[in-house]
Amino acid sequence: MSTSLRGTTDVSSLASRRDDRRRSHGTASPSNSEAGTSHAAAIFAQQQQYIFDCVRPLYDEPLAIAEGSGCRVTDYDGREYLDAFAGILTTSLGHCHPAVVAAVQEQAARVGHLSTLYVNDRQVEAARALAEISPGDLGRTFFLNSGTEAIETALATARLHTGRTEIIALRQAYHGRTSMAAAITAHAPWRVLPGTVTGITHALSPYAYRAPFGDASDEELVEIYARDLIEVIETTTNGRPAAFIAETIQGVGGYIVPPKGYFQRMAGIIRSYGGLFIADEVQSGFGRTGTHWFGIEHWDVVPDITVMAKGIAGGMPVGAVTTTSEIAGSWRGKTISTFGGNPVCMAAMVATLGVMRAEDVRTRARDRGAQLRAALDRLGARYPWIGEVRGMGLMQAIELVEDPATKEPSPRLAGKLLHAARDEGLLIGIGGLHGHVIRLGPSLLIEEDEMDEVTARLGRACATVAAGR
Ligand SMILES: Cc1ncc(COP(=O)(O)O)c(C=O)c1O
Repeated sequence: MSTSLRGTTDVSSLASRRDDRRRSHGTASPSNSEAGTSHAAAIFAQQQQYIFDCVRPLYDEPLAIAEGSGCRVTDYDGREYLDAFAGILTTSLGHCHPAVVAAVQEQAARVGHLSTLYVNDRQVEAARALAEISPGDLGRTFFLNSGTEAIETALATARLHTGRTEIIALRQAYHGRTSMAAAITAHAPWRVLPGTVTGITHALSPYAYRAPFGDASDEELVEIYARDLIEVIETTTNGRPAAFIAETIQGVGGYIVPPKGYFQRMAGIIRSYGGLFIADEVQSGFGRTGTHWFGIEHWDVVPDITVMAKGIAGGMPVGAVTTTSEIAGSWRGKTISTFGGNPVCMAAMVATLGVMRAEDVRTRARDRGAQLRAALDRLGARYPWIGEVRGMGLMQAIELVEDPATKEPSPRLAGKLLHAARDEGLLIGIGGLHGHVIRLGPSLLIEEDEMDEVTARLGRACATVAAGR
């Protein structure tokens, strides 16, 4: 395959389509080669013309990806990158896994769309597979199209079940982009409009590195966060909350891992006030954290409702809410989802879970996660501007600071490292309230030698940043 030739052809056809449109609008435009720009710049120029400006690429100089395979992607100029962020932890089996591709192709040729008005075998198989891996008696699923939509559905389900409305979320949380999901999100940059949804309050994030009260043991931290949740319930709600919702590891927040014992205590508190515990497993689900299928299992807690998306279907758009029969049965009014349970996406999900089981991704994530963590710890010991290394399994992050004593967040260094890694041919992610945390979350099938390559490239990128600080 000649990637660059293929890329050239694709971009030329895009460019000529753009030229056709421009001509029909009475303006002339130079072609990509005439302008002397890269293929990415040519595509981005068109993006700026036709797509909302708020749909912003990650890099200063946008990266346009033409194709992917396993842990690698290739841009339109033929340059290959190791992908250690997996489309935001979503291509859980790597890009274009053959089993997922075959399932999608086969199902698309059989029946591609139905809506939730009809029954189909793929949706039932996917729900059964979820019930088999879910903890406790979480066995009823509603399929949606995204994490955001699943969050909305989970909150509505909790409200219908309890007959209450007030929701408690966590500061630093990210749950999505609709009104309700943005209202429980607690990052100003991701809350574009002022809050208009009532009945939402936020408890302290279990962010030990930045705990306002200094160093404390896990037990002490849990006690402080527990007292805060109780106070939030008793002072900012009517004392009858519908639910407490939390990511098991705060993803966009910068992979914030709560202390040992945290979820046992928080789930106990919300239940003692008659509310439900909703676990957002959008990032941490499906073996990502190692050893278990779901992040919450590390705390040995069975949630009342679980929310899933991202890695669930190998890159195809699926959101899911799983709960008990009793809670699911509380939703008696009409509801419908045109694309929910779409057979092509369900086929991708069934294939993805099949590969995950066959490849034992829970063990792989544990082992490759330990390999990654050891390398990040070495970098953390070498560079004082790495304030903390944290994460679980194949969800590992480094928090960058201007000075380890003041812990001043450093979006400046994080931006430099993100770009230096790209120059090394490595794709990583960014997060944290200030954009100061570097996040890694590669395919769960990443091999040992590929991980060595990831850490070597990241090490060189860190050296470049250190040299230019
Ligand atoms: C923890 C968490 N919940 C929910 C969402 C929303 O998912 P989506 O972008 O599919 O709507 C995200 C997205 O990043 C997320 O990280």
